[in-house]
Amino acid sequence: MPTTSDATSNAKPGTPPAPAGKHPAPPCTLVIFGAGGDLTKRLLMPALYNLAVDGLLDPKMSIIGVNHGERDTNEFREDLGNALKQFAADKASTFHTSKLDEDAWNSIAQRLEYMAGDFEDDGTYQKLAGKLKQASSGNAIFYLAVGSRFFEVIADHLGSTGLLNEDESKGFRRVVVEKPFGTDLASARELNAHLLGYAQENQIYRIDHFLGKDTVQSILAVRFANALFEPVWRREYIDSVQITASEVIGVEGRGAFYEQTGAFRDMLPNHLFQLMSMIAMEPPNSFDAEAVRDKKADIIDAIKPLTPDDVVFGQYGQGPAGQAYRAEPNVAPDSNTETYAAARVHLDNWRWAGVPFYLRTGKRLTSRRTEISVQLKQVPFRLFRDTPVDALTPNVLTLRIDPSHGTSFDFNVKAPGPVMQIGAVKSSFDYANFFAERPNVGYETLLYDCMLGDETLFQRADSIETSWAAVDDVLHPKGSAMPVHTYAAGSAGPQAADDLLARDGRRWRPLTETPAQADDGNAGNAGNAETKSKS
Ligand code: BG6
Repeated sequence: MPTTSDATSNAKPGTPPAPAGKHPAPPCTLVIFGAGGDLTKRLLMPALYNLAVDGLLDPKMSIIGVNHGERDTNEFREDLGNALKQFAADKASTFHTSKLDEDAWNSIAQRLEYMAGDFEDDGTYQKLAGKLKQASSGNAIFYLAVGSRFFEVIADHLGSTGLLNEDESKGFRRVVVEKPFGTDLASARELNAHLLGYAQENQIYRIDHFLGKDTVQSILAVRFANALFEPVWRREYIDSVQITASEVIGVEGRGAFYEQTGAFRDMLPNHLFQLMSMIAMEPPNSFDAEAVRDKKADIIDAIKPLTPDDVVFGQYGQGPAGQAYRAEPNVAPDSNTETYAAARVHLDNWRWAGVPFYLRTGKRLTSRRTEISVQLKQVPFRLFRDTPVDALTPNVLTLRIDPSHGTSFDFNVKAPGPVMQIGAVKSSFDYANFFAERPNVGYETLLYDCMLGDETLFQRADSIETSWAAVDDVLHPKGSAMPVHTYAAGSAGPQAADDLLARDGRRWRPLTETPAQADDGNAGNAGNAETKSKS
C-alpha cells in the first residue's frame, strides 16, 4: 500500500487524485490459472487495464492465461476485449466508464497469451516452466483464479516443478490465492501447511478483495490522519460498532457454491473481521506490511470466541423481492444453508473491553449497503433535561464503503426558534464531490502491490487461522445445529437478529433511508428534529 502525503492538495471538487507512488511495477509474468473464468473477465482484466491507463505496468510485463480447453490466443484476446467493452458500457457495473482508452486495452491485449492446460497434469507445469525460462525477467506471479478445490493441486504442482523456487528462477515467485481460504480452522490449517511446504510466507498473497477498496483503505486514513477521532476511539467514549454488508442480490446462479458455504463462512471470518480489525487496531508505527498486519492480527487474536448464542442465521423465504432461496437453481428444496448471518463480537483487550461489535450480512435484503457505524456514548450530563427535549440522539460516525462512498456524522445542534430544542443533524462527505470518480474494480491496488511485493493488504497465515478459530464453535456447535430463521426476500433480515441487539438494549441501523435522509446518501439515526446539514 504505497502512501503519499499530498492527498489534501487534491481535495478540491473536480480535481482527480494523483495516483499514489506513480511508477511502474517491476516486470513479471502474470500467470492466471482459470483464465476462462468470471473473475478474470470481470475483475482482473479491468484492473490490469486501469493499471495500464495509469502507466503502472512495466512494458515487459506479460500475461499467460491458463485454462482447460484448446483456444487460440487471438480469440482469447478478442473475448476479453469484448467483455471489457460490455462492462464499460453497463451503468450497473463498477467498471462503467464513458470512454475506454483503446491504447491502454491494446497494450494489455498484446501482452496476453493463452495456454491450454489441465491443472492436474504435470505436462501443464513443464510447458509453463519452458515459457517462463524464455520470459525477459525471472519474476512470476501465479494467480489462482480457480475454484478452491484446485488450490492445493496447483500449489503442489508449482512446488514440485520448482516453479516457486526463487533461487533457481533468479526472480520473485509469488502465489495469489483467492477466497475461500479453507472452510474452517482445520481446512485452513491444511491449506496453509500445503502452501508453506513449497513457498515462504512472503511469497503467498491471500486476497480479501474488500481490502482493495479505496473506501476500506480510507478507514486507516480517517482514523490516523485526523486528530479528531483517536482520542475518543475507545471504550470510554464508544458505545458500540455496527458493521453491515447487506446485499439485494440473491445467490446469482452460485447455488451449488453457496449451499456448501453459506453467508457466515462467505463473509464473516474474512471480509467483516477484516473491516473490524481496521476499525479496532492500534495505530501502527508505519505503513509497512508487517507493522500494519501485526496490529490487525492483535485484534483478530483478541476476539472472544463466538458461541452459538452470539450468532443468528437466517434464510430468505419468498417475499417482495422474489422467490425463496430453496427455490433457487442448485439449492436443495429443504436446504438449511444460511443466507443471512448476524453476530455480536467482543474484543478482549484494553481499548475495547465491553464494547460490542455487531456484524451482519445477508443476501436479498432491502438494500445494498456496506458500511461501518461507530456509535458514541450519550453525553454524561443531560443539560437539556428540562427542555422539550428528553433524549439526545447519539453521535454516530458512519463510514460508507459501498455503493455510496464517504462518511457521515450524526450530531446535535440547536434547532432554530425561541425555545431550546435540539435538532439531530447529519454532516456528510461524498467522495464524488471531492475526487473524480474512477472505474476502479478494487483489484488494481492488490495486483500492483503484489507486483511490488507489498503484502500490507493481504492476509497472513496466522490471521486467517485465528479468524477461523474464533468462529469454530459456531461452525461446529457442540449441541444442536444452529437454528436458521426465515426472513422475507426483500426485508431487513430475520426478527431474531433484531432480538439479538434488543437483548443488549440496542437496535440495528436502518437499511433504508427515510425520504429526509435519502439525499445524504445514507440512513441516519431517527432524530428528534428533522434539521439536516451538509458540509
Ligand atoms: C464475495 C462473496 O467474497 O463478496 C459474495 O463471496 C459477495 O457472496 C461479495 O456477494 C460481496 O462483495 P462486494 O465487493 O460486491 O461487496
